[in-house]
Amino acid sequence: MFGFKSSASKDTSHCLLKEVGIAEINKQHLRLASYAVEFSLIVDELSDREPTNQDWRRIDALLSKIMRYVAKHFSEEEALMREHGYPDYAAHKKLHDKFTAEMLKMQSEINNRNIKFKKKMSSLLWDWLYHHINEIDYKYREFFLGKGLS
Ligand SMILES: [Fe+2]
Ligand SMILES: [Fe+2]
Repeated sequence: MFGFKSSASKDTSHCLLKEVGIAEINKQHLRLASYAVEFSLIVDELSDREPTNQDWRRIDALLSKIMRYVAKHFSEEEALMREHGYPDYAAHKKLHDKFTAEMLKMQSEINNRNIKFKKKMSSLLWDWLYHHINEIDYKYREFFLGKGLS
C-alpha cells in the first residue's frame, strides 16, 4: 500500500500525504503518488540490469501517463488558484513549471535511451511530490477552506 502508514489503533493511524482541504485535489494527489510508486518499482527492477525493448515500452507508457496526469493536475490546481485569487499563485506556478521541465528532460533522456536506472532514482518522483504536496500545496489549505471550497 502506498502513501499510508497505519497502526493497530485507528486514532493514531495517519496518512503520509497531508490532505489539502479539497477532495478532488486530494484524490489527484493519491493518484500521483501511486504513479510515483509504480515508477520507482520499475527503476528498482532495472537498477541491476539493462532494460529490454519491452521494459523501454513499459517505461515510455508509464512516463507518458504520468506526464499527462501531472499536467492535468497542475492546470486544475492553478486554475483554482487564479479563480480565487490565491496570493502565492506566481511562486507556486513557478515550482510546477520547474518540475515539468525536469520531467521533460528525463523523458527526453529516456526517449534517447540515454539513461541509467539507478537505485537512488527510484524515489525521485515520490520525494518531489511528497515535499510539494506536504509543504507547498498544504499552504493553500486554509485559504481555499476560507473560500468555502471542500
Ligand atoms: Fe498538487
Ligand atoms: Fe502544487
